[in-house]
Amino acid sequence: MVSAVVNRGPWTGASGRMLVLGGGYSGRRFAAAVAATGMPVLISHRPGNDPLLGEGIRSVPFASELRPGIEPAALEGITHVLVTVPPGRDGRDPVLESLGASLAGLPLQWLGYLSTSGVYGDRGGAWVDESDTPTPGLPRSRARLACEQAWQASGLPLQVFRLPAIYGPGRCPFNGLRAGSSRLIHKPAQVFSRIHVDDITGALLHNLALPASQRPAVLNVADDRPCPSSETLGYAAHLLNCPLPEVESYRRIQDSLSPMARSFWSENRRTSNRRLCVELGYRLLYPSYREGFRASLQEEQALQRGAGCTSSGQTGAASG
Ligand SMILES: NC(=O)c1ccc[n+]([C@@H]2O[C@H](COP(=O)([O-])OP(=O)(O)OC[C@H]3O[C@@H](n4cnc5c(N)ncnc54)[C@H](OP(=O)(O)O)[C@@H]3O)[C@@H](O)[C@H]2O)c1
Repeated sequence: MVSAVVNRGPWTGASGRMLVLGGGYSGRRFAAAVAATGMPVLISHRPGNDPLLGEGIRSVPFASELRPGIEPAALEGITHVLVTVPPGRDGRDPVLESLGASLAGLPLQWLGYLSTSGVYGDRGGAWVDESDTPTPGLPRSRARLACEQAWQASGLPLQVFRLPAIYGPGRCPFNGLRAGSSRLIHKPAQVFSRIHVDDITGALLHNLALPASQRPAVLNVADDRPCPSSETLGYAAHLLNCPLPEVESYRRIQDSLSPMARSFWSENRRTSNRRLCVELGYRLLYPSYREGFRASLQEEQALQRGAGCTSSGQTGAASG
């Protein structure tokens, strides 16, 4: 929740204006938290998608393939930028291609780029940190590394944040379990790292509170507990008090998985948060999926209660 992130400081906003490019899952949570500090936020949405509105938040349509990207007048006063848009189908960075020249003309103090820990490639289950040379194996991870490098070459005040699987309210296994569509797949020694969406925001704000000279060029944002997906699914089922599906052996079912699903299972690594949590002193809101799933379920249930009250004509207090 926004309050959980913002109330623990230490970043209390900055003079200037934040631009969030990509009003998706992480972008919206970050925008809401920044706006709650009092810093005005401009967030992009693709035409046809609902813009995020709220106190201190304005939205602007942006689709990289449409011209003009964003009118220069709309970008007046922007000092900070967060880019959440992934590489395009051509493997290039859509934001840099479309808005790079406009961004270069702004008095930017900070540009955060959300990347993925996929750039490290398969590590056979070993820990990876920011000092490891990326060796991406999957085509999408090679594209991602190329995008990181293009941003690095832009000369903008860049910080790259490498993220493992993002979860949080609406992105937990609860709906799949309820619908009976979850699969309990076991692959020996396979683990996944993950991060709660509010710890992305929390880590970004923590980092923004540091003097610019102390902000690392690359930062992993992951929780403390990489683990098998069978473990997280088991805990989700426990929280819902619902049965788990039968265990399936990855070796047996791999050919039936989509190429995308197979690609996720093809890499195994533990993403280290040592730089973030030990060197920079960030305290995770959700050190593991356990705290994160519990809070996400509560937030989903609060939203449902709010929606229910609203639809029955009463005032619903939806959190977020
Ligand atoms: N999800 C994960 O588990 C995960 C893990 C590691 C890293 N990441 C990366 O971290 C970043 C944030 O993740 P997320 O899950 O918050 O992403 P998300 O919800 O998909 O948000 C991405 C946003 O970018 C917008 N966008 C995409 N292509 C665009 C384009 N060509 N022009 C303009 N806008 C465009 C999307 O618009 P639409 O909503 O209209 O598509 C969406 O609002 C992404 O780069 C993602 O690839 C994600």
